[in-house]
Amino acid sequence: MESLNLREKYINFFESKGHKQIPSAPVVPENDPSVLFNTAGMQPLVPYLLGEPHPYGKRLCDYQKCMRTNDLDEVGDVTHHTFFEMLGNWSLGDYFKKESITWSFEFLTKVLEIPLERLAVTVFKGNDIVSPDNESASIWKELGINEKRIKYLGEDDNWWPNMESTGPCGPDTEIFYFRSEDEIPEEFDTSDDRWVEIWNNVFMQYNHNEDGTFTELPQKNVDTGMGVERVTALLEGQTDNYTSSIWYDIIKTIEKVANLQYVGHEKEMRIIADHIRSAVFISADPAGIKPSNTDQGYILRRLIRRAIRYAKKLDIDINSDWEQQIALTIIEKNKKYYKELEENRDVVLEVLKTEKVKFNRTLEKGLKEFEKIIGKVNGKVLDKDNAFRLYDTFGFPIELTVELAKEMGIEVDVNGFKEKFKAHQELSRAGAKEKFKGGLASTGEVETQYHTATHLLNAALKVVVGPQVHQKGSNITHERMRFDFSCDHKLTDEEKQKAQDLVNEWIDKGYDVTKEEMKKEDAIKSGAECMFIERYPDIVTVYKIGDVSSELCGGPHVSNTSQIPHIKIKKEEAVSAGVRRIKAVFAE
Ligand code: SER
Repeated sequence: MESLNLREKYINFFESKGHKQIPSAPVVPENDPSVLFNTAGMQPLVPYLLGEPHPYGKRLCDYQKCMRTNDLDEVGDVTHHTFFEMLGNWSLGDYFKKESITWSFEFLTKVLEIPLERLAVTVFKGNDIVSPDNESASIWKELGINEKRIKYLGEDDNWWPNMESTGPCGPDTEIFYFRSEDEIPEEFDTSDDRWVEIWNNVFMQYNHNEDGTFTELPQKNVDTGMGVERVTALLEGQTDNYTSSIWYDIIKTIEKVANLQYVGHEKEMRIIADHIRSAVFISADPAGIKPSNTDQGYILRRLIRRAIRYAKKLDIDINSDWEQQIALTIIEKNKKYYKELEENRDVVLEVLKTEKVKFNRTLEKGLKEFEKIIGKVNGKVLDKDNAFRLYDTFGFPIELTVELAKEMGIEVDVNGFKEKFKAHQELSRAGAKEKFKGGLASTGEVETQYHTATHLLNAALKVVVGPQVHQKGSNITHERMRFDFSCDHKLTDEEKQKAQDLVNEWIDKGYDVTKEEMKKEDAIKSGAECMFIERYPDIVTVYKIGDVSSELCGGPHVSNTSQIPHIKIKKEEAVSAGVRRIKAVFAE
């Protein structure tokens, strides 16, 4: 299939308009522990939208790895994906509405050659903070968009991300494409789902503060986002995203390993394709996520196990190398855009295989449990609690329980199970929501203090344990900091005490925190600490704390260590072979 090459076209176009391409940030955020995954292209750019100068300048563009897991159960239809790529271009206090809208229009109509009559737009109708966006509307009109195709909508539709999340935000204008072969109505009806949103241009000019107020940002930014999967499918004339060039080869491989056609098995194949693709990207990410029962590791585990369950439905021989074949297709297709896929190929394949073996073992245990339970069934019905236990503890899909019970002439209380399942799901959704809430820019004062404290802890561990200690990750919430570092032994009580004392001593000394932009190679030569060297652009920001610490970092930080409360190490534990984790809080 001829591919649209949307990414190349997009980047070339914005480079021709003075933008610099920035590399995709990891899908697991490096310095923003308030979210599990990047959910939008702008997320790694929050410090720069807030005013920090970006080493690449004021006009940026990229394609960014994103993950949204809140509607995992929707995957299986024609549009939903967990992992996706977002194209974006940004003005960091440089151009504004006129250029942004004009270039979007030019890209769509000239580069992608979308006929004008297939386009429609929405603009913000105004609220207490900002007046109706007549400016955007008149720019669209001048470009040739008919007035009947320009609709004014309110906060629910044209304010990004929404009125609740804290962080940078603002009114937006959204661009829609008429995807049907039907006659195109002259008037744009926003409730007609043949009009599909393809691009979102946000005029990020406000910060939503934690106290609920909105203040103007020091600069007026533009943040745009376009989903690669959706737009590729639309422009290739596919109503099912999974038949576009983004997915085509992956589906072909699944057809081959299943020895079945896509037609008739769409749902199963879409789920397998989506989930394995997400698992490949998560496990290839530099953060080194492995399947586990918490955070990103849990999502990874669920994705792999769900893919296996659907593979079983297609009667794929689970013990064959089916998942490796699918993963290899995904790696081949994408490695030119994301070189970590090639670099971490063996890790990815191992993660999939190991988790598959583990899940198979769990299933075996589940079968034993099933036999025990079924032996005790009173009458003819397996109750909802046991059915749920088989699902929850043994990963037994309800369909499997029903099937096995049926062979023994026993029914399952499926409705009861579904109720329990729903209650459970709502609970875990609520949990996930908590995690994502306020996630965009949780760079409040406390988080900033903790962030600087992690730099001090990193430096202190180098003194106490040795210079071979390096940061392997960090995670900060309002309540605590977590710091992962390379170290071949469990820290002794004395080492912990010494590291804590040293950090607190440096806090008391009141060192200035300064930052400097320099060439990456000079930064490395100067001995600055750095976690993922290949992730940084050629010009980097180095934060120095007195003369005790020097690290490549995007900030933000306090300006003097005296602004940080004393820390207290609460826990030190192993994360994986050779990696330890410290949890610390601010002392009362
Ligand atoms: N941040 C906006 C979005 O995710 C535009 O990039 O849609």
